[in-house]
Amino acid sequence: MKSQPAGELVVPRSVAVIMDGNGRWAKNAGFERIRGHERGIDAVRTTVTECAQLGVQALVLYAFSEENWQRPQREIDLLFKLLKRFLVEERGTLMQNRVRLLHSGRRERLAKDVLQLLDDTVAATAGNTGMKLSLAISYGGRQEIVDAVRAIAGKVQRGDVAPAAIDEAMLHAHLYHPELPDPDLLIRTAGERRISNFLLWQVSYSEIHVADVCWPDFGKDHLHAAFRDYGQRVRKFGKVT
Ligand code: FPP
Repeated sequence: MKSQPAGELVVPRSVAVIMDGNGRWAKNAGFERIRGHERGIDAVRTTVTECAQLGVQALVLYAFSEENWQRPQREIDLLFKLLKRFLVEERGTLMQNRVRLLHSGRRERLAKDVLQLLDDTVAATAGNTGMKLSLAISYGGRQEIVDAVRAIAGKVQRGDVAPAAIDEAMLHAHLYHPELPDPDLLIRTAGERRISNFLLWQVSYSEIHVADVCWPDFGKDHLHAAFRDYGQRVRKFGKVT
């Protein structure tokens, strides 16, 4: 990137990223789609490391949506192969940067070996006190809300919760990771301006930054540009400043 936008670089407490454009990056470069996902891993490493070092407290990466199960089986298989490789090869980077790994999403459709590696990495990094990194895998925002409602409905059925006691705080407490702060900043790459079923409950007051580059090209400078853009936002949360 040639020039940095003016403004102070303000580090958000919590960041979420829709990593879009791997396929387009590959097509533009004359490769097959999977090469875009492969290169996307480098951008994941850069963003995780830089966010951890700048002091971001929570980062959520949209790695595989519930809707992504409808992609060709070959692409799904390759994406999970890359995810497994990431979990094995990047454990050292996570430990060095004191990153604690979490998984957001449904477990039912994930293969045993993927779950095993995810659970192992979650356990191995559980004592890390730095940034929390949640990988959203087999994740959908609507599905997360459905799962929370089901859990609360079960408690109502057992007589543990009165319907009148259900409020925002209770629903929030039944999300996959209620301990994660809502994203202050949502970044989406490849110029798209959509939420795509990502963290629907949590992004109510997130600031949105759209980067025009495809995810494999998203580097430190682009992250800094997003943080400078964030630094210029006036956040009112529906109130008057
Ligand atoms: C969107 O690009 C990207 C994905 C659906 C997958 C994201 C996965 C990675 C970056 C690699 C694995 C991630 C981790 C955390 C190890 P697209 O394929 O929809 O791009 P297109 O819209 O240009 O086709």
